[in-house]
Amino acid sequence: MRVTGDPELKVYGIFGYPLGHTVSPAIQNCAFDYHKLKSIYFAFERSPHRFRYLMQNLRSLMLDGFNVTVPYKRTVIPYLDRLSPEAQAVAAVNTVKKKNGRWVGYNTDCYGFLTSLRKEGRFNPRGKRVLLLGAGGAARAVAYGLGQSGAKEVRVINREKFRERRENLVKQFKKMFPRTKFEGFSLNGSNLERGLKDVQLVVDATSTSKGDSNRRLIPVDLIPKVREGRRLLFFDLVYYKTRPFLKDAKRKGHQVLDGKGMLVYQGAKAFEVWTGKRAPIREMRQALHDALHSR
Ligand SMILES: NC(=O)c1ccc[n+]([C@@H]2O[C@H](COP(=O)([O-])OP(=O)(O)OC[C@H]3O[C@@H](n4cnc5c(N)ncnc54)[C@H](OP(=O)(O)O)[C@@H]3O)[C@@H](O)[C@H]2O)c1
Repeated sequence: MRVTGDPELKVYGIFGYPLGHTVSPAIQNCAFDYHKLKSIYFAFERSPHRFRYLMQNLRSLMLDGFNVTVPYKRTVIPYLDRLSPEAQAVAAVNTVKKKNGRWVGYNTDCYGFLTSLRKEGRFNPRGKRVLLLGAGGAARAVAYGLGQSGAKEVRVINREKFRERRENLVKQFKKMFPRTKFEGFSLNGSNLERGLKDVQLVVDATSTSKGDSNRRLIPVDLIPKVREGRRLLFFDLVYYKTRPFLKDAKRKGHQVLDGKGMLVYQGAKAFEVWTGKRAPIREMRQALHDALHSR
């Protein structure tokens, strides 16, 4: 982990396991280069055991800040000195900054989601009904963002065996955002059909593991037809591939958005948290594009 003795060089990185797919180094190093900063960003793939060991020794690590991704967004919390209000509410951290010798946790997924939704999806969630698939860390960031933006209704659907996660999410955000109606349902055909009724936005915040990347959470025949030119927006948080969720929705004529924009905006916010400088969005987007195409 020790990288250099140069006191001027700032060192950042991302912790996750596995990390094979990460494009964060390409995006962040491009932003550092753009501003000519003496900073560098690495991918640190660490097993749960190694990650805990490193966090226990956080104070002696030569890091100025870091990102955390699956599966450590919650694991990291007890090792930090303070959380931002978003990170506290979402109960997940994806960005950590060393501030006057203390470690502060932030959640920039929420900003990334809302900014991509508004700028790329041209969608304002205020007063809208939303179906949200999943109740993990990313789903919580999405739900928080929707509550904060004044969505009218958020219907959360996840697997019955993880019902507790869904119930906690709904209970907490109902209390935090009383003007938004949060409801939870278990994942099955009839709940999906009911959940899709009269919504304007459908968000897939579920992850994909090896071998199930072609699973269909929403059967094609449940995706509503475009009526009177009113298209829904289908937003998949995954950025490295197009899942059936988006392909099916597009085939039916709906508007679709993948997770690339969200990834760039959450990374841009992390860069701004660390450096206080404006993130070069266009260049970071190009770096993401190049990294995905050079795989
Ligand atoms: N574009 C971006 O910037 C960005 C940012 C953050 C996350 N993401 C993506 O969002 C996804 C979720 O990340 P996360 O941090 O929330 O992970 P997480 O906390 O591990 O949650 C995983 C979610 O996936 C669901 N899931 C997993 N396997 C499933 C299956 N076979 N069938 C149905 N649901 C399944 C889980 O549902 P249950 O609740 O039913 O267990 C849970 O809601 C990942 O693919 C991640 O790459 C993208």
